[in-house]
Amino acid sequence: MPDHVQPDPDADGAAEIRIPDVSDGLIDRSVYTDPALYRVELQRIFARAWNFMCHETQIPNAGDYFINYIGEDQVIVVRGEDGTVHVLMNTCRHRGNALCRAELGNTKAFVCSYHGWTYGLDGKLIGIPGKADFYRDRIDQADWGLVPAARVDHYKGFYFATLDPQAPSLFDYLGDVGRVGMESMLAYGDVVVLDGVQKNVIDCNWKIAVDNLFDWYHVKVSHNSASRVGFLNQAAMMPMTQMVMLGELGHAIGGPMVTREEQAKIDALSDEERLAIDRLPDAERPKVAPTLRRPLRSTATKAAMGPVGVRASGHPNIFPNLWISTRGMQMSLRLPRGPAATEIWWFTVMPKSFTPEQRRAAKKFIIHSFGPAGLLEQDDGENWSQSTMAGRGVASRRYPHNMQMAMGQDEVMVDATGQKAIETRVNEHAQRWTYRCWAEWLRARDWPELMQTRSPSPTGRV
Ligand code: FES
Ligand SMILES: [Fe+2]
Repeated sequence: MPDHVQPDPDADGAAEIRIPDVSDGLIDRSVYTDPALYRVELQRIFARAWNFMCHETQIPNAGDYFINYIGEDQVIVVRGEDGTVHVLMNTCRHRGNALCRAELGNTKAFVCSYHGWTYGLDGKLIGIPGKADFYRDRIDQADWGLVPAARVDHYKGFYFATLDPQAPSLFDYLGDVGRVGMESMLAYGDVVVLDGVQKNVIDCNWKIAVDNLFDWYHVKVSHNSASRVGFLNQAAMMPMTQMVMLGELGHAIGGPMVTREEQAKIDALSDEERLAIDRLPDAERPKVAPTLRRPLRSTATKAAMGPVGVRASGHPNIFPNLWISTRGMQMSLRLPRGPAATEIWWFTVMPKSFTPEQRRAAKKFIIHSFGPAGLLEQDDGENWSQSTMAGRGVASRRYPHNMQMAMGQDEVMVDATGQKAIETRVNEHAQRWTYRCWAEWLRARDWPELMQTRSPSPTGRV
């Protein structure tokens, strides 16, 4: 079986392409449309990064599998006989056929539908029809197993994989800000990720879908209809009290914050009191809870998130494309499908401690929020699509996108614990940070070079 995938740093002409300068907050439209740049993104971002695969509760038993992607490489995430989670390229080593066609399920082995080569749960080739008669026994099965990811690891049950053996550990990759983001899903303790990932394709560049998750400027306008029918509480968005955390390698959190005063009131509550408030219906909570509809984090989560992170109530993005949303109860992957198409996946993250009533209410809220039938992403998708398409014209592509809001006008505050955040109003700091890190990923030939040249998490004026 091959050791792992071997990314070629110069594949796809990476050395020759022009990576636009984004440091002035002006984004050249080619970043959304250039097919050559897109190929390099697949190579130098997706094949290099730790990519989210699935949660442990989606594949609890031996033989359980879930299909996902690393860039455009389709992979099978499968639990082996001994409980180990494997991530294997979903492509037969004979003629490349996709082995597994179902999105999830349970199996004893993977049998290719073309000529019948059969692979075990660990990817080993365990059967070749006609091995003696047709191959005359002149094939070494051990050489033709499925190609595994270089490394697989999990953060508190959330599995990730990387194709690059030089990648840092998942823990280090996430860093402080990425870990705060992951912890935001654990506000109520252990979770289960429900079956039924919602999937749809939007004809936009994947980065437009990513940078929008930090964008609290569009909410009042794009989602006006959701507000008018009473689904969105615009006052609760608090555009004037926002927090941004910028993490190394491109992770970031941006959006509303819990103020210090509010946090002090929450800290005065016991876990039992917090739980009682969390169990109130949405309409009731704002009357008693100082943070309106946001989850009141448990003592354990508070400790893991740190004194600053616990007040970040906005949207985390785990670079490159994992968005954690909806009070930590939805996760979305923005999967690239060419420069002008993005497949959007929505996972539902349900706290195990929720009562049946809370579950029902959470599911209803989730289905109405994001996903193909949600009120919010339909508004967004149309805008992202038009923003992408308008980069194709020979005249329009000469005019960059403006991402300069609040540039040079805010200060990074450093807590005594070392956690950093910008406390401000609506801004575009996290968007600019995302593109700055994106450019660094593209310029670096490999992990050692990226680790040497990446920007440190900013301090001072930003
Ligand atoms: S392509 Fe899979 S067995 Fe031939
Ligand atoms: Fe939106």
